[in-house]
Amino acid sequence: MVEIISGTAMAATITDSLREEVSLFAGEHGYPPTLAVVLVGDDPASQIYVRRKIGQCAKIGLRSIEHRFSRDLSEADLLGLIARLNEDPEVHGILVQLPLPAHIDSHMILDAINPLKDVDGFHPVNVGRLSIGNRGLLPCTPMGCMMLLESLVVDFRGKKAVVIGKSNIVGKPVALLLLERECTVTVTHRYTENLPEIVRTADILVVAAGSPGLVRGDWVKPGAIVIDVGINRTIDGDGRPKIVGDVAFEEMDHAGAVTPVPGGVGPMTIACLLVNTVKAATTLNSHCEPISLVDG
Ligand code: GUN
Repeated sequence: MVEIISGTAMAATITDSLREEVSLFAGEHGYPPTLAVVLVGDDPASQIYVRRKIGQCAKIGLRSIEHRFSRDLSEADLLGLIARLNEDPEVHGILVQLPLPAHIDSHMILDAINPLKDVDGFHPVNVGRLSIGNRGLLPCTPMGCMMLLESLVVDFRGKKAVVIGKSNIVGKPVALLLLERECTVTVTHRYTENLPEIVRTADILVVAAGSPGLVRGDWVKPGAIVIDVGINRTIDGDGRPKIVGDVAFEEMDHAGAVTPVPGGVGPMTIACLLVNTVKAATTLNSHCEPISLVDG
């Protein structure tokens, strides 16, 4: 029988365990670890995600400060806000919800965030650290995927891992994390030929394709562990809106374990954001004044 891996339960355990750290920090500094959340435009999915992130912060006493703008905010104004948040000693984490409107260069915005406050793990410094195994702040969804996998996999070494999707947010970083655990990793994408055949080799399968029900039952090896990162809005047979993953969940009986959608990776992404915010606050406050390397 396939095991259903509850991200909701694991996320609740993680957030519960952060409560005490948050209150210790607040007691010591007079204010809690603080996350600045920046949302530009009115993308409905982004609004839902931001609301959830802010709601979870409040549950454990993290302070969140929301900065909401209409979609015509200029790039210069957004850069100005990031500069102020970088300077603010009472802001420990900065999250700019993606996607940004097309006239704003996302790379330029992410590059402008202080890497120590980059709780999304998207800054090139943190991406670089991840790629050389010297961890800074890890991106939240890949970190959540690894926590789910770590609860099931005793020894990653030599396991065949297949990742579907090569995004900067999920596919590439999760592949690096699996590689660091010494899996044999294959990254696939929309131009990959013979995808079902490659997927059938996987002991560990991470799917972040953004394609509802892409992975069918006969693509999955018996006993494989399947992590479904997809969050797709569809309409069910009765015309009601429904959230589904990238995996045909009802065809996974022969898998070893599978994450549901909703209730799998989604809650873990938010829990990891909270972990990163507490980590950033602690790191920033343990830093001494930087020593100048240049005299005078
Ligand atoms: N858009 C989709 N996923 C994410 C995420 O993890 N962080 C941010 N900032 N934006 C996103």
